[in-house]
Amino acid sequence: MVSNKIKSESKAEHQMKYGKDHSRFLENDVPKYKFPDGKMEPRSAYQLIHDELNLDGNPDLNLATFVTTWMEPEADKLIMENLHKNFIDHFEYPQVKVIEERIVNIMANLYNVPDSDDFIGTSTIGSSEAIMLGLLAHKWNWKQRRIKEGKGVDKPNIVFGGDTHVSWDKFARYFDVEPRIVPIAKDHFTIKAEDVKEKIDDNTIAVGVVLGTTFTGEFDPVEEINSMLLGFKREKGIDIPIHVDAASAGYITPFYEPDFKWDFRLEQVKSINTSGHKFGLVYPGLGWLIFRNKNMLPEELKFYVNYLGDEMPTYTLNFSEGSSMIVAQYYNILRLGKKGYGDIVRKMMNNANYLAKRLEKSGEFEVINGANHIPVVTFKLKNVDSSRAFELSYKIRERGWIVPAYSLPPNAEDTTIMRVVIRENFTADMVDIFVDDILHAKKNLDKIRIDRKKENPRKGHSVS
Ligand SMILES: Cc1ncc(COP(=O)(O)O)c(C=O)c1O
Repeated sequence: MVSNKIKSESKAEHQMKYGKDHSRFLENDVPKYKFPDGKMEPRSAYQLIHDELNLDGNPDLNLATFVTTWMEPEADKLIMENLHKNFIDHFEYPQVKVIEERIVNIMANLYNVPDSDDFIGTSTIGSSEAIMLGLLAHKWNWKQRRIKEGKGVDKPNIVFGGDTHVSWDKFARYFDVEPRIVPIAKDHFTIKAEDVKEKIDDNTIAVGVVLGTTFTGEFDPVEEINSMLLGFKREKGIDIPIHVDAASAGYITPFYEPDFKWDFRLEQVKSINTSGHKFGLVYPGLGWLIFRNKNMLPEELKFYVNYLGDEMPTYTLNFSEGSSMIVAQYYNILRLGKKGYGDIVRKMMNNANYLAKRLEKSGEFEVINGANHIPVVTFKLKNVDSSRAFELSYKIRERGWIVPAYSLPPNAEDTTIMRVVIRENFTADMVDIFVDDILHAKKNLDKIRIDRKKENPRKGHSVS
């Protein structure tokens, strides 16, 4: 988001900064805040923007992101070939729609829908949109049930953990549902089934379960929560659905731990989201939403439009959407199959485990999650105040590494941790280089601190 900053640079100011002929091709000032009056040569426009974007970090060294930064050249080619197709124009581009439907089928079967003729799903811009749409359907179903029972519909609530992504809070606020947040503990960073039980009632539209959490990459106990909700249904006759946020695990667990029950094999799991652009290995933005049964998506939430040709139902927040990433997802599915995804996942998990071991062995870090289910390693600094992770995060940026430091949610907010997401291009060699760099940076952090103390002994206290 950008505030309405209006500022202009005069030609004189600009020339003072850059000189008269600062670029071989550029003759005009660079427009920054006001729509330019005149035109610019394509080459100049390209060069200007290209040069400025050099200031961005290197995506390959960005260990903060879950999002794909590399695809095969053949995938890149398909992406370029389909970049100009608006996905929503189903009548004009029917084949992309057919491909999207195939992927929804493939994902529903991968997630073990009980009836492979009775499910429904859609592509989205990412997991956030998928979460909003999934929860909106649950809100609608809850409302219809309450109306049928002659009960009030003014107090819906949604129960999820303090370990969820901000998109859950967004849903609650944007769609006017009371968020009942299950706290995490000081030393346990996911939720517990018994704590969820204390928050649910007849007005609960759904319970959110995360696989793996944005904070530590750990899994909420989905099977225990499912059993608790089954017990609640038996005892009280209240049927509360689970929405599984598998933004990260949705393309990992089916290949890495196929026997781990987290999906539609569990009775109360009624909807699942995942991000194609995370371990689905596609560039942003692509997400998937799958409902266990067709009747989970109320007819009233589908919109039928015919102004692009044939009448087609849509269930999206945004109307227009690119086609390329849907095509790219299909490419990966065909190209890799279960075997290929499995091989990549195992490689990422091996590298993540190797990173966790090296960090632990150094004696400088305490590993919180050494990639138990997904290739994410979280750790905190040892021997110093954990909040110095913020400084360390800046320090290793000098070598180009981007690794976030952040405080955990309430109850554990005193703990600052760092997180590394191991993606496909992060090899064991890169792990070695990274660990050497982070150890070097940490050593130098301490040195800077000691030198400062020496400079001004009267200050006398250490922040660490
Ligand atoms: C657990 C979880 N849920 C939802 C999201 C939002 O996903 P997206 O960026 O695909 O909208 C994220 C993003 O990192 C996440 O980690």
